[in-house]
Amino acid sequence: MDWEHDGITRRSALYHSVGGLALVCSFDFDKRARATRGKTTSAALRSKASGPFEPFQRDLPIPAVARPVRSSKKLEEYVFEMKPSNVEILPGYETPILGYNGTFPGPTVKARRGREVQILQKNRSDRELNVHLHGGVTMPQYDGHPHDAIPAGDERLYKYPNVAHSATLWYHDHAHGETHLTLFAGLAGFYLLDDPDDKHFDLPQGDYDVPLMITDRSFNKDGSFRYRFDLDRGFRGDTILVNGAVAPRMKVERRLYRFRILNASNARPYNLKLGNGREMIQIGSDGGLLPAPVKRKNIPMEPAERVDIIVDFRQFGVGSKVILRNDGGEPSTTAVMRFDVVRGKAEEARVPKQLREEDELPAPNAHRSWPLTFQGLAGGSSVWQIAGGGFSEMRIDCRPRLGTTELWTWRNLSNRTHPMHMHGYLFKVVSVNGEPPHPGNRGWKDTVAVYPNEEVVVMPYFDYFAGRYVFHCHAAEHGDMNMMGQMEVVA
Ligand code: C2O
Ligand code: CU
Repeated sequence: MDWEHDGITRRSALYHSVGGLALVCSFDFDKRARATRGKTTSAALRSKASGPFEPFQRDLPIPAVARPVRSSKKLEEYVFEMKPSNVEILPGYETPILGYNGTFPGPTVKARRGREVQILQKNRSDRELNVHLHGGVTMPQYDGHPHDAIPAGDERLYKYPNVAHSATLWYHDHAHGETHLTLFAGLAGFYLLDDPDDKHFDLPQGDYDVPLMITDRSFNKDGSFRYRFDLDRGFRGDTILVNGAVAPRMKVERRLYRFRILNASNARPYNLKLGNGREMIQIGSDGGLLPAPVKRKNIPMEPAERVDIIVDFRQFGVGSKVILRNDGGEPSTTAVMRFDVVRGKAEEARVPKQLREEDELPAPNAHRSWPLTFQGLAGGSSVWQIAGGGFSEMRIDCRPRLGTTELWTWRNLSNRTHPMHMHGYLFKVVSVNGEPPHPGNRGWKDTVAVYPNEEVVVMPYFDYFAGRYVFHCHAAEHGDMNMMGQMEVVA
């Protein structure tokens, strides 16, 4: 049973620090961590000096846009370094992170449909890493399979053909069994795939098209991230960051904005609300634009999901302060960010009535069912499982045919939510407990929330590339503790 073996290697690997960050994170070691660090939670920091945790004190940072080292009509080439650095997240404190080019979030890659992107990723950390383009349609050798590691000090070239629809993608580390640490340490960035054919939608652009990466963290007294392993719920921090700043504020003009929201948290779900229930217009989801815009007063987001929304700030007066909140979390996680409305130039964008046309898909070729369970193991430990199996590089759970669709039923037999994610391909949500999905979930998806005791049927389309890809729960602690399967799509 290879999960037992995996458990041992993984556990010893957890002793390693992440870029100088002592991320101690196993069940047994957590106590010791607390003892050596003292009572140094952000809760303690909060009560002593509420200053750094006060919401709306900092302007929203916008992650730098990556510059290609070479570019032509057909190809753009980038070089990234994955390396430790110190950043100022809490004013007056240094926080050690592990980041793409030493930044958190990493640089935003702006890609164009039909033009290839190549990124040479240099691992300048002291541990094995790799890079997964989440939502990307890539050949398997560039997908960041958990077992395709870049050894410390080594490098690897990733090629992204950008053949799929325009969409808000992101890239992050996918090291086998360690994503809950590396993602937490800061290895995540946006990859915005645009399509010149979208121009006629007149969507907000440039400064009015804003990526928002939402994460939760806790902090030690010295300002470093504080991690605590929780196999059951996954990590939950007490502080919300947007683009790496504590609940920031942003000046907005009275006009339309597009926000590309990503939940890049390890395991925390959000339920986003604007002001006291003002309208947000959802235009996209994981796999790009919806068939038509959907008005929403609240938007639930599980880890790894993306939602593209338009907000019309003309509904607010100059001087309004509009808070984006997270409903239903602990009090310290309610404030996400604030929009401060100022006067602006004339409006140029509009909300289109129709967006992407529906793709025609072949009829499903197979039906598979995947029970999601929590399993106690001999010896008192436990893991999360898909179809009663742990993850093994050697095992193939299914072999779909290239060019076909299938119906997959996620059957959640546990009392936790599982955001189920598939690599390499996109899917449509067919039904949730036998009912049609919310209109906001009717576009292409790569991650879908499967709530406790729910049955969610999805229809993946195995388009473009054949090969081996993983599928897994994106609550990072669940995925790392075995909630991962492998498919081989055959031509
Ligand atoms: Cu964003 Cu396999 O993950
Ligand atoms: Cu899960």
